[in-house]
Amino acid sequence: MAFCHRSQMFDQSLGSGQSKRCPKLSRYKLLSLALTILAFCVLTLVSVSGPQTIKTITRISVFVNIEGAALKGVNTNADKRVTTSQANHDLQHGDQLGSSQEDDLQKNLPSVIVIGARKAGTGALLRFINLHPWVVTSRSEPHYFDRSYWQGLDWYRSRMPPSLPHQVTMEKTPNYFVDRSVPERVHNFNSSIKLILIVRNPIDRAVSDYVQLKVDLESVVCMYVIYKFYKHNTSGTYGSFEERALDKCTGRIIKSYDPIKRSLYSRHLDRWLTYFNKSQILILNGENLKVKPWEEMLKVERFLQLPPKIVRNHFVYNETKGFYCVQTSNAVTTTTTAAFQEAKRWPESCLGDTKGREHPKLRPEARKALQEFFAPFNERFFKKIGERFDWNR
Ligand SMILES: *[C@@H]1O[C@H](CO)[C@@H](O)[C@H](O)[C@H]1NC(C)=O
Ligand SMILES: *[C@@H]1O[C@H](CO)[C@@H](O)[C@H](O)[C@H]1NC(C)=O
Ligand SMILES: *[C@@H]1O[C@H](CO)[C@@H](O)[C@H](O)[C@H]1NC(C)=O
Ligand SMILES: *[C@@H]1O[C@H](CO)[C@@H](O)[C@H](O)[C@H]1NC(C)=O
Repeated sequence: MAFCHRSQMFDQSLGSGQSKRCPKLSRYKLLSLALTILAFCVLTLVSVSGPQTIKTITRISVFVNIEGAALKGVNTNADKRVTTSQANHDLQHGDQLGSSQEDDLQKNLPSVIVIGARKAGTGALLRFINLHPWVVTSRSEPHYFDRSYWQGLDWYRSRMPPSLPHQVTMEKTPNYFVDRSVPERVHNFNSSIKLILIVRNPIDRAVSDYVQLKVDLESVVCMYVIYKFYKHNTSGTYGSFEERALDKCTGRIIKSYDPIKRSLYSRHLDRWLTYFNKSQILILNGENLKVKPWEEMLKVERFLQLPPKIVRNHFVYNETKGFYCVQTSNAVTTTTTAAFQEAKRWPESCLGDTKGREHPKLRPEARKALQEFFAPFNERFFKKIGERFDWNR
């Protein structure tokens, strides 16, 4: 009852049980609202470019500059450019590859997939494992098994980076973990494939997920306006995490809220375990990835049966960000060309602005309610994976 405020009780008496937060609107009002919004959106899209758009454009231009500088006068064939620099990168790593092996470069389907979880460190994991000379990773999330399955395997292959015969191709799409149709499709694709799942405290993950959702919505002006009118209260903000995840009157956790649902690891893992042997799934500790990334990388190297190459001094702690970044200058190699190659391969030596965002603090009661809610799910998860994590905070 402590969660039940006066205005919200009023709200509830207006609504029809289900849509507590959404006051009812008449059909005409809705229609006129829709038309207004549509007009507004068209105008907005035409005239205004939101901050996100500007940011994206800046990012692209920075990247293009790096690419442009790196490739000046190297070669004219676009595909060949990429592959040449990738091969150079390998050479710089000290592997005994003849230059003739550049010809062996081709795109391969992945034999390892990072399936999730969203907001648990998949980006960092991919960025870090990319330091290994025998691993190539796709830069963007292909979303093949969930959204683009109809496109077929040739499309999927085209999303992969070029690699040498001995290299392992890896992709990550965190949505795979929670999408119902994915495990079966992956099994049909390669039943002996290796899967990597990284998890962290489900409460922290849910909050981070919430922050991401909020930012995503607010960054797209048009979407934000629609969202504000239809999904949320009429005063127009997304609301706090507690407002979204906890029922205002009973204080119960709203299981259907996506950030909560996606933190029910045991449920999602169950679906994967109906298709795959546990030994095919490596579970990584997201909290430890933050404080000792080299330890988690060693687990990955063992799992993939690769020689251990990623060591502690590949990482440098960034006080401002509060986590480790890749130390491109010192660790990978000391020659400028290689550092440059590395920069080209992955424009940011540290994770982007979207990582390490400020997270809202939960009230102690809310955190306690969430802990009690997640406890049985966590227990089931620990039992299944045969390992425990310290998530009692
Ligand atoms: C399936 O995955 C395994 C494990 O990564 C790999 O060794 C094998 O080559 C893959 N098979 C195909 C057909 O890609
Ligand atoms: C709508 O959201 C705002 C901001 O989170 C909040 O202050 C307000 O109380 C909410 N209104 C209702 C009717 O729930
Ligand atoms: C899973 O893999 C392990 C080790 O490879 C094997 O011993 C076990 O029989 C497998 N279980 C199933 C159900 O296939
Ligand atoms: C740490 O991160 C901040 C913010 O991205 C950046 O400006 C700074 O250069 C980084 N410091 C080091 C030592 O990498």
